[in-house]
Amino acid sequence: MAFFNENYRKLKAGYLFPEIARRVNAFCEANPKRAERLIRCGIGDVTEPLPSAVIAALHRAVDEQANRALFRGYGPEQGYPFLRAAIAEIDYRARGIDVADDEIFVSDGSKCDCGNILDILGHQNYVGVPDPVYPVYVDTNVMAGHTGAASSSGAYEGICYLTGNEANGFVPEPPAATAKPLDVAYLCFPNNPTGAVASRERLRAWVDYALANDTLLLFDAAYEAYVREPSLPRSIYEIHGARRCAIEFRSFSKNGGFTGLRCAFIVIPKELTARTGDGGARVPLHGLWARRMSTKFNGVSYIVQRAAEAIYSPEGRAQVSALIALYMENAAILRRGAAEAGLRVFGGENAPYIWVATPAGVGSWEFFDKMLREANVVITPGSGFGAAGEGYFRISAFNSRENAIEVARRLSALR
Ligand code: MLT
Repeated sequence: MAFFNENYRKLKAGYLFPEIARRVNAFCEANPKRAERLIRCGIGDVTEPLPSAVIAALHRAVDEQANRALFRGYGPEQGYPFLRAAIAEIDYRARGIDVADDEIFVSDGSKCDCGNILDILGHQNYVGVPDPVYPVYVDTNVMAGHTGAASSSGAYEGICYLTGNEANGFVPEPPAATAKPLDVAYLCFPNNPTGAVASRERLRAWVDYALANDTLLLFDAAYEAYVREPSLPRSIYEIHGARRCAIEFRSFSKNGGFTGLRCAFIVIPKELTARTGDGGARVPLHGLWARRMSTKFNGVSYIVQRAAEAIYSPEGRAQVSALIALYMENAAILRRGAAEAGLRVFGGENAPYIWVATPAGVGSWEFFDKMLREANVVITPGSGFGAAGEGYFRISAFNSRENAIEVARRLSALR
């Protein structure tokens, strides 16, 4: 007899974005005329084609596969040296951040990395998760059996929720010194969904907390390319001491538009360690992750890694900057539209997400339905990102300019 992983039973009905898609499809089937004017600002999926430097690199790499001398079979599980070197040099060392090529592990996506990292962490960890936040952190911990059941408000027993709200600028503080210390804490900046960014001082507080409490920080920087203000940190390793307490997650999805192509990476510094179960010894996480990758992963395809490398070429970098500028101008347009509707608006200044308070007394899903029915615009209900997201919604700036202008118009017309 086979037994299934009963932790899956604890999960709330469906993952957020498929649930949104289900509701949108039902609406479109029932209202074909309105479906024609539907604009999707829900899931943060890029809309613009890949940069031409990436396309050229893809073509070259494909042609190599037709040539016996250049053909590639299995590649290194941790990523090809050419890509690891480009990442470490341009994303880190050129910015004065100490990261070695072999501390980069190339993967097929940050969502997978966020879930897979739990493979090398113990089950006894007391985990802190921001609320609201990217739902993958909570759900993967539920699947791994790190939580109890969910309460009626949707909070899982055993998780420490780190509330982001208007008072703290959606940047949660580390727990008080008197609270049970966290073993692991997720951080996501620029934040999905609120678009909030953490200043150097706020990240310093987290690194100080982590070093004092032996906490591992899982720092999701998937949206770092959207940081506009030069004083804001883009990597946790800009904070002294972070190499001893943090893993960083990065992605090519939102900068190079690789949501379909798939490529990302994580950074695990060699001096980063975690305790054995009895607390007696410390083990480097770098070696554990390398072992995990070589056992469970055969690496990202050569073709895709050449495409990712092209993002670091001078043309690639200029083309990525232009893409980001386009989405950030959309964000400014959407921010204005929401403000003109008389709503309280956050984020969207160093992130591609605009976080908006629903009108008084209107719930997140209720507003989602209203936007779908009346404005024919798909947004993401804030409560899908955690209980503290109730009363808010997220608008994604990943869209064409024409659509961003139209959504802003429809939003302001709601007033
Ligand atoms: C989002 O919309 O929150 C993201 O696109 C989801 C993801 O990156 O997996």
